[in-house]
Amino acid sequence: MGAASMDKRTIITGIGHYVPPRVVTNFDLEKLMDTSDEWIRQRSGIIERRHVELGVGSSDLAVEAARRAIADSGSRTSDIDLIIAATLSPDHYFPGIGVLVQAKLDLPPIGAIDVRNQCSGFIYALSIGDQYIRTGAYKKILLVAAEVQSTNLNYSDEGRDMAVLFGDGAGALILEPNEHNDGRGILSTHLFADGRHVTDLWMEKPGCLDKPAVTEEMVRTKKFFPRMDGKNVFKNASVKMPEAVRAALQHNGLTVEDVALLIPHQANDRISQMVAHNLKIPLEKVMRNISKYGNTTAASIPIALHEALQEGRIKPGDVVALTSFGSGYTWASALIRW
Ligand code: COA
Repeated sequence: MGAASMDKRTIITGIGHYVPPRVVTNFDLEKLMDTSDEWIRQRSGIIERRHVELGVGSSDLAVEAARRAIADSGSRTSDIDLIIAATLSPDHYFPGIGVLVQAKLDLPPIGAIDVRNQCSGFIYALSIGDQYIRTGAYKKILLVAAEVQSTNLNYSDEGRDMAVLFGDGAGALILEPNEHNDGRGILSTHLFADGRHVTDLWMEKPGCLDKPAVTEEMVRTKKFFPRMDGKNVFKNASVKMPEAVRAALQHNGLTVEDVALLIPHQANDRISQMVAHNLKIPLEKVMRNISKYGNTTAASIPIALHEALQEGRIKPGDVVALTSFGSGYTWASALIRW
């Protein structure tokens, strides 16, 4: 989905992120399960992650990130005309967190869309926001991505493959039309899915296939914890993210050399390194902050994008490539001229 030449491109006019203050190190996890700091660092690059205090929801993290993004854009909260919220870990089974963000920010009764595309949720949401801005349907969109993973991971030996990888956090953006038509903005988004791999990474239960949706058997067999075939996910992520970036570059008549910074979804540092290697992008041009936060699913790219900006790694005119891969499978890419 590339921008038609007459459209105003979508620009990011504000960005913010929020992670809960409680730091959980690999050494903390060693006390809960048979794992080690050395194993986690070697296999994933993660050193620590953040966990919420019980009772703090993904909507709360989203609101903190949203406040920061709104302030960064210099907007009045009342000017926001649409919310798009991405999470796989909503506060409730329904409704999603979009309406909670709206209520907690005391926004007028504007639309609130929830996006459930797991680790690709942010780029999927960005793609939706981009279409609305380019058609002129909305002028100031709040896009939030937030996750609380820590309350539903199995912190025992049987869940150690997943429990060490994931963390909590949120990122938010304000999307607006580029009124100057100076070439800046979202150049394209590309979305992909292959539902044949649903069982490779999923939280199977609860769902509507059982009556009632939560059963004692489900609790006994611990089917309510997410499960993953790590090797398959690893293999596919390493291939599909570079493919998505290449599709984006080709669509825009650009090459890998044109990319100033690649921000891959922070799933595992070894995956990010393989994506860079596959694309022949030097690691200096790859944003990697998984050591501090683990995999924050939909929130990982906006958190990394904000930190890259704070670190001065993106300059005006730079082409930034985003790419993600996750449960579904879903994968995606976006190119932005900053
Ligand atoms: N601590 C210590 N040992 C662990 C462990 C942990 N936290 N988790 C798993 N192990 C063990 C396994 O049980 C296995 O033991 P075994 O050989 O006795 O059976 C051993 O470590 C090796 O496991 P393996 O699966 O070969 O490791 P790996 O190199 O594939 O790394 C992952 C495992 C999970 C880190 C890796 O597969 C991965 O990152 N996959 C992608 C995950 C991901 O990104 N998911 C989200 C995508 S959005």
